[in-house]
Amino acid sequence: MPKLPAPPVPDALKPKPKRPGEGNGKEKPHEVAAEAGIHAADWVDERTSVSGGLRWVLFRKVPKGTNWFYTLGSATLFAFLSQAVTGVFLAMYYDPSPIHAYESARYITNDVFLGQFVRGMHKWGATVMVILIFLHMGRTFFFGAYKYPRELNWVIGVVLLVLTLVMALTGYLLPFDQRSYWATIVADNINGTGPLVGPYLADFLRAGPEFGATTLSRFYAIHMLLVPGALIALIGAHLWLVAKLGTTAPPWLKVEPPEDLRKAEV
Ligand code: HEM
Repeated sequence: MPKLPAPPVPDALKPKPKRPGEGNGKEKPHEVAAEAGIHAADWVDERTSVSGGLRWVLFRKVPKGTNWFYTLGSATLFAFLSQAVTGVFLAMYYDPSPIHAYESARYITNDVFLGQFVRGMHKWGATVMVILIFLHMGRTFFFGAYKYPRELNWVIGVVLLVLTLVMALTGYLLPFDQRSYWATIVADNINGTGPLVGPYLADFLRAGPEFGATTLSRFYAIHMLLVPGALIALIGAHLWLVAKLGTTAPPWLKVEPPEDLRKAEV
């Protein structure tokens, strides 16, 4: 079978030419291991062309003046990933039944290896994610990044914001101590005062007219399955649009006419 032509690769990633004496069977073990890794990646790439997609996402031109404020979206993404990883470990020990929930959370903190650390990461990570998402939203707003053609990405962002707040609300009940119990009742009652849908939403969250045993499992299912699934799908769509449309130049950058127009003016 003829070999497929190699896709264009940035210079930095091209294999370096061999030096005299190299490749004579005297490679060091780490060089052999690196070569084996490259072969494995090549094998997968030849069958999937996945590197083309990766290059499309990762090697893009960014506007002049891109600065630290542009890292807030990735920081939010990192906070989300950290929540996902620590959440998986917490779920290994947490029991969402009203009788065992408090005890299982206490067990994680006091008895599980690194349990207090992981629970702390998850708790503080939630606050960090909420702060970061607002900062990221502020950045896109003040840089005018919500304007044409990125309106849809702004709308997806608004849904991501609401879902992140739902994660924070539903997670707060899970330790099932006095504070989380009463705070959730207050939050649920506030929901109930919303116009039109408010009372229905409050009933849905409570899983009935009264705060009861099923409320906790409902919050757990929303926190563990429903909202994370929606977040993953929407973050995927959000990042796809960022890669497709590129990022907005900072508003203080002067717009320069294209080369041919500049020549025509002279
Ligand atoms: C889970 C939450 C979110 C994640 C993980 C996320 C991630 C990202 C990333 C990585 C970028 C590209 C880098 C950057 O500009 O910072 C981006 C861009 C963008 N995001 Fe988000 N984002 C989230 C929430 C939001 C929210 C709440 C909004 C607004 C309501 C929003 C609106 C936008 C817009 C308009 C862009 C395009 C920016 C530009 O063209 O310069 N995002 N997002």
